[in-house]
Amino acid sequence: MKKIVVMLCTLMIAASGTFYTAVAQEMTPEERAAAAVDTRKSLFKMLLFNLGPIAGMARGAEFDAEVAERNARRIAVMATMIPEVLATDTSAFDDIETTALDSIWSNQDDIAVKAQALIDNANAFADAAATGERSAALRTFQAFGSTCGNCHDEYRVDD
Ligand code: HEC
Repeated sequence: MKKIVVMLCTLMIAASGTFYTAVAQEMTPEERAAAAVDTRKSLFKMLLFNLGPIAGMARGAEFDAEVAERNARRIAVMATMIPEVLATDTSAFDDIETTALDSIWSNQDDIAVKAQALIDNANAFADAAATGERSAALRTFQAFGSTCGNCHDEYRVDD
């Protein structure tokens, strides 16, 4: 039984590998860049999706320690992907809609530092939220929330 499961898993991994390679090979460089932009926007949208309820609590909505901690931990985990989704230089294609500034491609070390700041501040907020004390959590919110803007100020088109 175990052997069969292992065999099936191996087959599935091999099949998905083939599929991924085939798809990647069929894409033009522009399509690949568009997909990379799509992926990074999706990650940032999910960050906002999780930050939303927390920001609402900071603005006076009822404090829910469980949701606050859960969403902040999610953000901390997702933020580990930021350097990866901001690693592909997509500047060669003018038709792709993006607000990412080209300075990103030559400042990967700083992107990693800013992503790490988000991870640390999100976890600090989650730790404070876990105490169940609204005031303790909100004291750490300022640092947490501003981590998003700190990167946008430097690496995103001003709107
Ligand atoms: C290390 C840098 C960095 C950090 C940290 C960061 N962002 Fe961003 N964010 C960007 C860049 C760059 C873009 C532009 C992406 C594009 O248009 O290709 C962006 C775009 C976005 C967008 C627009 C996505 C779209 O659909 O166009 C949202 C929403 C967003 N970020 C939310 C957040 C939130 C919320 C946080 C904090 C929890 C955050 N970001 C932290 C760099 C960052």
